[in-house]
Amino acid sequence: MSIDAGPRPVHDAKTLSLRHLPRLLRDPLRAFEEVGREAGGEIARVNLGPFRPYLITHPDHLQYVLRDNVANYRREGMMWKPLSRLTGEGSDVDPSWPVKRKVFQTLLSGPSVTGFADEMTATIADAVDDLARRAGAGGPGGAGRPVDAFAEMTRVVYRTIIRVLVGDRISLSGIDELGQVMVTATTSSFRSRMLMPFVPLSVPLPGDRMFNRCVQAVDDLVYPIVRKARRDGADGRDVVSMMIRARDDAGRGVDDKAVRDGVVGLFVASTDTTVSALSFLWAALDAHPDVRARLYDEIDTVVGTDKPGFEHLPKLVYTKLFLHEVLRVYSVAWITPRTVAADDVIDGVRIRAGSTVAISPYLTHRLPGVWPEPEVFDPERFAADRTRHRFAYLAFGGGPNQCAGRVFFFLEAPLILATLLSRFRPVLENTAEVRPRVDITLKPREPVMIRLRPVER
Ligand code: HEM
Repeated sequence: MSIDAGPRPVHDAKTLSLRHLPRLLRDPLRAFEEVGREAGGEIARVNLGPFRPYLITHPDHLQYVLRDNVANYRREGMMWKPLSRLTGEGSDVDPSWPVKRKVFQTLLSGPSVTGFADEMTATIADAVDDLARRAGAGGPGGAGRPVDAFAEMTRVVYRTIIRVLVGDRISLSGIDELGQVMVTATTSSFRSRMLMPFVPLSVPLPGDRMFNRCVQAVDDLVYPIVRKARRDGADGRDVVSMMIRARDDAGRGVDDKAVRDGVVGLFVASTDTTVSALSFLWAALDAHPDVRARLYDEIDTVVGTDKPGFEHLPKLVYTKLFLHEVLRVYSVAWITPRTVAADDVIDGVRIRAGSTVAISPYLTHRLPGVWPEPEVFDPERFAADRTRHRFAYLAFGGGPNQCAGRVFFFLEAPLILATLLSRFRPVLENTAEVRPRVDITLKPREPVMIRLRPVER
């Protein structure tokens, strides 16, 4: 697909009609896919009555919004506001954002993350042992009982990420409790706000009370950790200590609320996405025996009966291609909205100040002119010798606000897979198609039940 047809006369965006609204409420993702198909990569305005976002899916347009004129497309507005009760204000209206960003970038940079190798490896090994016990795997009778992949991956991912980011400032039971509360906050209790962002917060919606209770529970868990870290001198390399020690360019530190928001914001960004990705991949493995065979073969060859560690990661090449393809198809960060600061024109289309721009990796990853045969699951598209538009693959966003945790993810997720798959061959119990449903991130609509069959050697 090309939009390079010379300058176009300035015009309003094509409007896609309100007939999508009933479907949007019944099956939001399917309606969204239809809207994406109808727009066909062109900028369109989606008429949802009181809410008329611009839909921008073409990589050239995305490059402009996410990179070339990024200051005009702010990470704030009605789609971010409801979440701010959990994570603090969006980056573009948060005075403490420069401090938070500096901490995230330092903490999550390659050298710093590789310093977590021993902690990460040990925590994942323990979490997988625990999962195996819960699944009754490896004992007499072989494959044990089916377990819910989402719940299990929540436990593994929370333990790994929070142990690595917060050290021993939080107990294992505290981590599990935080996991449950955050999952409730970011799923069922948030869905109506996600689907009707135009309803003011002063108007109650189903799920609000539960969401507020979750926010309170998160506060009750996180504030004591922040206060204790401050009292103890905050000299650790964990995120709480780093937030407390950090200073802006004028030498100012941040208060407890900003530390709490930074820590919780990082938890949401890092855990919710990773859990979703690691829940969907069982369905992809089940549906594609050839991919599964290659993945198992790589893990058997590279790890075998060793204890998986960071030293194995450079050789887990296909595992990483597989994870990229999972994230192309199940683009868990399915929408990353922006608010337009000043009137603008993109490729001849007038964009009005104050409106919302819906950027959807999920739709961009399905554009036929951008991705050959987008419906085919093929990890090889990410092989090193294949090229694509820089803004065609947006699983981790693009431009200066792209995901700060990408390096972390590609250490953690392959290590979790290597630890699990070097011991077990998970078998999917429900082999029907696993459809995603929309929450803050995409989640499996039905439980994905897996059984852990021990590897036969
Ligand atoms: C499957 C895994 C993940 C996916 C798909 C993902 C996706 C994304 C996306 C799309 C954004 C940009 C949002 C926007 O443009 O508005 C983002 C931002 C961010 N992510 Fe991730 N992420 C993942 C894992 C992680 C992990 C493991 C961490 C931390 C350990 C993390 C930390 C962050 C942070 C701090 C930001 C904000 C960056 C900034 O604005 O400077 N993410 N992520």
